[in-house]
Amino acid sequence: MRKFYRRISEKKTSTIVGLLLAEVLIVFFVCACGNNLKEDNKVIDGITNETMVESNPDFVKAQELYIANKCISCHGTDLSGRVGANSNLQKVGNKLTAEQIQNQIKNGGGGMYPYKDKLTEEEVILLTNWLRSKK
Ligand code: HEC
Repeated sequence: MRKFYRRISEKKTSTIVGLLLAEVLIVFFVCACGNNLKEDNKVIDGITNETMVESNPDFVKAQELYIANKCISCHGTDLSGRVGANSNLQKVGNKLTAEQIQNQIKNGGGGMYPYKDKLTEEEVILLTNWLRSKK
């Protein structure tokens, strides 16, 4: 009889150990996920200023306009310009004032056609602000 009891209690113990193990594993996995989140945060923290600028929603819109309005065909995917030195926009923010950039976009000139009838005032401003950040 005693032996029988012991066996039951042994069984119970092993069940409890099993449950504990499962719990430890669950906690471990939850922690692991938590850690992954932290890792992600770290990556976000590690974003360079450059990337931050590129993820500014207004700048994202400006880049879409840049592509949709074919600026990209003359100024290139990396803004390095494909139609002469002045078509390089990589440091246009140092070279021109916001007003000058806006004028160039609206009125064109030097081989670039005017965009004042193609873009709204707001779109011109979006593009101008984005290009002004290129320094
Ligand atoms: C047909 C080709 C072409 C297209 C399309 C074009 N550009 Fe240009 N862009 C040029 C050229 C060429 C110049 C240099 C003009 C000069 O020499 O004065 C220029 C100059 C500029 C400048 C002034 C750069 C400087 O250093 O003087 C800005 C800003 C600019 N473009 C923005 C844009 C934007 C924004 C778009 C689209 C909305 C666009 N361009 C579309 C050809 C183009």
